[in-house]
Amino acid sequence: MKTELTEMLGIEYPILCAGMGFVSLPQLVVAVSEAGGLGLLATATLNPEEVREFVREIRARTSRPFGANIALEFETAEANARVLIEEGVPVVNLSLGIRPWIIEAVHAYGGKILSTVTNTRHAQSAQRKGADGLLVTGHEAAGHGGDATTLIVVPLVASAVDLPVIAAGGFSDGRGLAAALVLGAEGISMGTRFALSRESPMHDRVKDFAYGISELDTIYTDRIDGAGTRFLKTERVDAMARSMSPLEALRSVAKVKRALRLSWPEVLRAALRGGPDIRKALGQAQIAGNTFEGLMGGDYEQGTVPGGQVVGAIGGAKSCSEIVRDTVSEAEQVLRDRSDSLVGRPPHSVREDG
Ligand SMILES: Cc1cc2nc3c(=O)[nH]c(=O)nc-3n(C[C@H](O)[C@H](O)[C@H](O)COP(=O)(O)O)c2cc1C
Repeated sequence: MKTELTEMLGIEYPILCAGMGFVSLPQLVVAVSEAGGLGLLATATLNPEEVREFVREIRARTSRPFGANIALEFETAEANARVLIEEGVPVVNLSLGIRPWIIEAVHAYGGKILSTVTNTRHAQSAQRKGADGLLVTGHEAAGHGGDATTLIVVPLVASAVDLPVIAAGGFSDGRGLAAALVLGAEGISMGTRFALSRESPMHDRVKDFAYGISELDTIYTDRIDGAGTRFLKTERVDAMARSMSPLEALRSVAKVKRALRLSWPEVLRAALRGGPDIRKALGQAQIAGNTFEGLMGGDYEQGTVPGGQVVGAIGGAKSCSEIVRDTVSEAEQVLRDRSDSLVGRPPHSVREDG
């Protein structure tokens, strides 16, 4: 399947695995890139040494293209970006902001920049600043999905910019890929689907819980990290969404320190960088610490697990190669069948001689 995106990135299929903190590690990135899509290493929860080690590990395990996500609000973001640039990582995905110096440096070695946006204004701004493609994320997505739904924001952005659009938020199968292509996207990015794949390092307890819940079992709230974020619904997340406890947030700082292997001065610097918005800083501490416990420790009842509404469509484990192959073949089939039945030959051929 060829689109502008597959041509630009040199991949076989227009399917990306989102850069997901704690989850999109070398094993998952390699599995998706080897399957013909593009895996994105998540650097948000890594330090620069780990980023270098993981980039080299990915290169040793696949000769196919891959990329890395930098969530720019995180403490180590700029230091991690320098490592990606030194290593010449072919695709760099910037989320939660944009930095012109990173774009310039990546372009200097021929790399591509994908900017994550959630509305038309940010999409146009990313185009002006030099992005090569846009990951356009709708409200139904796991994590920071913005306010407009995928169905609304993808076609609006596709019409407003002159860059390949990758639709994100709510995709798990070929019907979704077909729909995205019809809306004007050149491909899709899946987070929740790949996080629940066989190769994902997410704890099996969390995967089993996620396979059993519905599209109604997520919560979108800004009461946990200060920005609208979608999590799998548990009693704990429900309670946190209703009122953030400063005491709990402070306790969480210690968990963050452990999860991200930060020193106390680094923790303090990160807190001060947040400026006067102490509520936001505490919220971010709370989310990072609890996310680590939820995703990797399997303690989803006590932790927080980012997850999209599409969780309701995912009933079990599949390997990344099955996900990519099934998504592409189903999309091709759906596009053929629907176009035949809707605009193709009439179902009963009418003889001209009556
Ligand atoms: C467990 C998890 C962790 C995530 N971490 C990040 C991250 O570090 N950086 C980022 O830009 N997006 C992150 N996201 C959001 C994804 O990049 C993506 O926008 C989202 O998963 C797409 O929606 P979907 O889950 O419906 O496919 C995360 C998502 C999940 C499920």
